[in-house]
Amino acid sequence: MTRQARTISSWIAQLPWLDTIAEPVQRATGALFGANRATQRAKDLLNGTPLRHRIHPALIAVPIGAWTTGLLLDLLEARSERPQEWARSADAAVALGLVGALPSVVTGLADWTDTYDHQRRVGIAHALSNSVALTLYATSLGLRFAGKRGAARVCGVLGFGAVTVGGMLGGELVYTLGVNVPHTLYPKPPTDFVAILASADLSQGKPVVAEAGRVPILLVRDGDTIHAVQNWCTHAGGPLDEGTIADGIAECPWHGSRFCLSDGCPLQGPASMPLRTFDVHEAGGQIFVRPNDEARSWPPPPANPGPAYQPARNATAPTNAA
Ligand code: FES
Repeated sequence: MTRQARTISSWIAQLPWLDTIAEPVQRATGALFGANRATQRAKDLLNGTPLRHRIHPALIAVPIGAWTTGLLLDLLEARSERPQEWARSADAAVALGLVGALPSVVTGLADWTDTYDHQRRVGIAHALSNSVALTLYATSLGLRFAGKRGAARVCGVLGFGAVTVGGMLGGELVYTLGVNVPHTLYPKPPTDFVAILASADLSQGKPVVAEAGRVPILLVRDGDTIHAVQNWCTHAGGPLDEGTIADGIAECPWHGSRFCLSDGCPLQGPASMPLRTFDVHEAGGQIFVRPNDEARSWPPPPANPGPAYQPARNATAPTNAA
């Protein structure tokens, strides 16, 4: 029997006590963002739905950049013969990081509100680490104002450590657990028209799911038009055919993202990426689809990297030699 190698996130998944913090916080953020149409719109904005791009990763550059600068300036202050030349700049960098962290906190909470299970635990650990960093930097700023520069610098170093751990956990969320990666990437559909359904099997307004290659495609006949979009939600892969489909809009059954069926555009979050759409051709009693031009920009399947890339090998693969 083989064992599964541990990752940081699999270790955090074994800490059920994190749920005692995560559950009430998530209930509160869910109630806040879902209170009415205006708060839902605000959440869409924080998720990046109108921009079709997540906002949180862009905003975290401000506190991390400012606090990295502050760390270097603190170091220069500690080693300089004229420390006051560096002190004010270091204080400004720490203060800028604190102010710049607030939008990151709000957008991060909006993104985390729609996570669950393992992802939610790693997300709350990420938030706790960053909260420790915020507290340490706020203390550091207070100590600077009080003239206790040595203690302030120590708090700064500890805060930098906490924000680094928070950053690692943020990386786990995206790269290991796939939180908010666009669920448009896999699997790949055939690039040319393929027949996927008999015309007679698609009646007006009644959605049907058919497969092109291994890709499930949601088909909806709307007058003379047939809409064809990927059937899984770009937020976390929810099955759109199990949600509500009406007036040219599909609503995901999992967290309520809404998409325009004619161009795949997200109309309501938490999804921020559009659905992939397909060109449709109907002939000879069959419905054919192929990815439209935009959808064909899906990354190609992995190819042999060729001689330019040869991974190092420290062991010889076993052969079948007798
Ligand atoms: S999977 Fe979350 S809104 Fe669809």
